[in-house]
Amino acid sequence: MLISEKSILLFIESLLAWYKKNKRPDLPWRKYPLSGYEIWVSEIFLQQTQVSRVIPFYTRFLQKYPTVESLSVSNWEEFFPYYEGLGYYQRGRNMLKTAKIVCETYDGIFPDNKKELESLPGIGPYTASAILSFAYNQSFLSVDANLKKVYKRFFLGSSVFEIPWDRFEKILEKQKYHFADINNASMDFAALQCTKSPNCDDCPMVKKCLFAQGDRVIEKKQKKQIVPKEKKKVVLFLHENHKKYFSSHADVYTPFYFSFPIYNRESIKKYFEETYHLKLSIRPPYKKVIEDDYEVSYVNAQIQVGEHQFAEFLPEAL
Ligand code: ADE
Repeated sequence: MLISEKSILLFIESLLAWYKKNKRPDLPWRKYPLSGYEIWVSEIFLQQTQVSRVIPFYTRFLQKYPTVESLSVSNWEEFFPYYEGLGYYQRGRNMLKTAKIVCETYDGIFPDNKKELESLPGIGPYTASAILSFAYNQSFLSVDANLKKVYKRFFLGSSVFEIPWDRFEKILEKQKYHFADINNASMDFAALQCTKSPNCDDCPMVKKCLFAQGDRVIEKKQKKQIVPKEKKKVVLFLHENHKKYFSSHADVYTPFYFSFPIYNRESIKKYFEETYHLKLSIRPPYKKVIEDDYEVSYVNAQIQVGEHQFAEFLPEAL
């Protein structure tokens, strides 16, 4: 499907006009100029986490670790309190690894090219493009799920086909656009206007948007089943990177079983903190099934901070 250069430029012009009027004010990671490090921290924190939740973490984190050097000499125990609450703990561990590599290999300056950025732990094409456009003023679209949603809706009407991102970048680069503006405008437009159930009637793009002019089919999630707390149970697999499993029984591998009042992430974490002085991370898969009228959550958990005496089993032995 050929998307004309003219339609790309008209779209970007409308998007930037919308952004001028509607942008989210005062996001701390938009106070340019910012270093590659400052952009990297923001983009890592913003992966899978809402903007409003990230803001206080970001500010506090940069007060503690104002430079990549300061982060590179830190360790997990010191780092953890500044990260705890954002979830996705592998992401945090990768931050420490990347900070060390940037100091040892790149003299404390984040590389300004895709290949080297993408070789760093936790940095994929999206984050690399974001660093290059926001910190180094380069011509990359930071293509994440939100940006894809907006562009696919507008140009394709649905998500079945792919957008030729390289072609978009080349066309926009020729016109000397500031890609930081385009990326920020796309993110804000996705978050505020072109939302999951978009308000197309109030959108300046509506006339040219294939989604708005089509059937406006949005995938709907199934409704959540409401189960009383007392009817919830938990089977918890405590592990270290899935390489070792810790058992609640010394001789035979046994997961940890809980029932009310321990039934969700918060109560499980509180229990392990109070009983064993351990801080856990609980990550998907957090699988729920209904068994005998009870909702049973199968939970993977990893010890992030603390010493313990649980018996260890290797996955092959289970
Ligand atoms: N989500 C990911 N990166 C973002 C950014 N720079 N601004 C707002 N939301 C984002």
